[in-house]
Amino acid sequence: MARIIPIEGERREAVDAAIGVLSKARPVAMPTETVYGLAADATDPAAIASIYETKGRPRFNPLICHMADLEMAERYAIFDPISRSLAERFWPGPLTLVLPLKPDSAIHPLATAGLDTVGIRVPRGFAGELIRAFGRPLAAPSANSSGKISPTTAQHVDADLGDRINLVIDGGPCQVGVESTILKVEDGRIRLLRPGGVPVEAIEEATGLVVERPKGTGTAAIEAPGMLASHYAPNAHVRLDAISVMPGEALIRFGSQPVDGMGQAAAVLELSPTGDLGEAAANLFGLLKKADQTGAAGIAVTPIPDHGLGEAINDRLQRAAAPRNV
Ligand code: TXA
Ligand code: MG
Repeated sequence: MARIIPIEGERREAVDAAIGVLSKARPVAMPTETVYGLAADATDPAAIASIYETKGRPRFNPLICHMADLEMAERYAIFDPISRSLAERFWPGPLTLVLPLKPDSAIHPLATAGLDTVGIRVPRGFAGELIRAFGRPLAAPSANSSGKISPTTAQHVDADLGDRINLVIDGGPCQVGVESTILKVEDGRIRLLRPGGVPVEAIEEATGLVVERPKGTGTAAIEAPGMLASHYAPNAHVRLDAISVMPGEALIRFGSQPVDGMGQAAAVLELSPTGDLGEAAANLFGLLKKADQTGAAGIAVTPIPDHGLGEAINDRLQRAAAPRNV
């Protein structure tokens, strides 16, 4: 079993315990504002390898490297003016920037999958404090076994990885609930590699530029390696844009409109009764797990608006509903 240390009241102890584990090249599950991350020293190949091993990831994907602040990030990557202004505006926060690596960067190639770029973000809250105290960047994918739903509570992490890791830092439920937005600036243009916790509209408003979405797929980002179609997979079959509930299904509802057949649903789970996309994002992964735990054969999800955080929510739902590939 993993040791679980709450941040509340035991902040110093949590930081010290985490640094103890990180210093032995072992991963620590840490809270961020998006999802819980499985963090390890981004400059140490043994530490990074232990992330892949713990998650059971079949291959090496580039990992997001978490920094304490922009100043730390500039030690490892080269910032163009647009990326710098995005960092100044949205960090700390749920935004990842893909940037050229500095030639002498100490980030290990295992963390970038050998690319000449690195995905960097500065998380809010405890994770940022931990990185500052540790003094080195932390590579951290979501703290779940490969292909499973991302964890938004310490209990989710413990249930999934508890027998494989030493330490979970418990910061309570994640505020944002979906992973960071990933952007790449090239030749003065901003490309969306993954929709996430910062809505595209907020980026366009801050920069006055149009964010380019990947063509063809309608949703995210295949250029970003590791963006597999079936990625947030519950056991149950997921059915999107449902306007009725079929026998044997659990219902995940957005808003408070009555849904045909909901009286017979295996469970009725509410993303946000008032139709608030931020609340829905924060509840999304937890409710997918809960729906799955009912043992229902299927999960019906009502339509969710595709603007603001709805874009990230719909992206994750489409992955959860995608045909499973092993
Ligand atoms: O909110 C988040 O971003 C969470 C928390 C823990 O910070 N982390 C997260 O990491 O979602 P992960 O490993 O699940 O997502 C990493 C993804 C890769 O699959 C890839 O799509 C993209 O980030 N990525 C990372 N480095 C990249 C690079 N150099 N070029 C292109 N894409 C990159
Ligand atoms: Mg993940």
